[in-house]
Amino acid sequence: MKKLILIGFMGAGKSTLGRRIHQRYGTPLIDLDGWIERHEGKGIPQIFEEKGEKGFRKLEREALEILSDQLGEHWVLSCGGGTPVYRDNMEQLSKMGTTIYLKSPPEELLLRLKPQRKTRPLLKDIPEENLEDFIGQMLKERAPIYEKAHVILHSYEWTSFIENLDQGASA
Ligand code: S3P
Repeated sequence: MKKLILIGFMGAGKSTLGRRIHQRYGTPLIDLDGWIERHEGKGIPQIFEEKGEKGFRKLEREALEILSDQLGEHWVLSCGGGTPVYRDNMEQLSKMGTTIYLKSPPEELLLRLKPQRKTRPLLKDIPEENLEDFIGQMLKERAPIYEKAHVILHSYEWTSFIENLDQGASA
């Protein structure tokens, strides 16, 4: 598996797993949000503010198109939580490589996202008491698309996968 595409909800650990694979195997890592930020010269929150979510989705799609032309034979791509959900991005991703859905239960996502919600454009205006319902609802809408991935990795599986990588690295 040489072309790996990590998808899943915000806070599922896509960037973390991507970084670990990169550190352990030297696999070139592309973080899609990071790529867009560098390309635009501004952060994701600012892009949302200036162009709205629609503008961001357009940039996200353009980034995918550019990357699918430019990427070589061996890489790991960590996507944004919404990347597969818009247009035919999921089909596009599935053609580019092996899609891996990092699946986490909503209660785990809530724990991770609660302290970071102010920095996330889609969550920053959701009152804390509504966050659980919001995440549950959004996950329910997105899950059927995420589940189309070639591989589904549950959080407990990939957490131990990371631990094995770490033990291997220090051995
Ligand atoms: C989004 C997830 C974010 C980022 C943007 C939109 C989403 O990425 O792309 O804020 O729609 O779920 P992460 O999943 O890396 O946080």
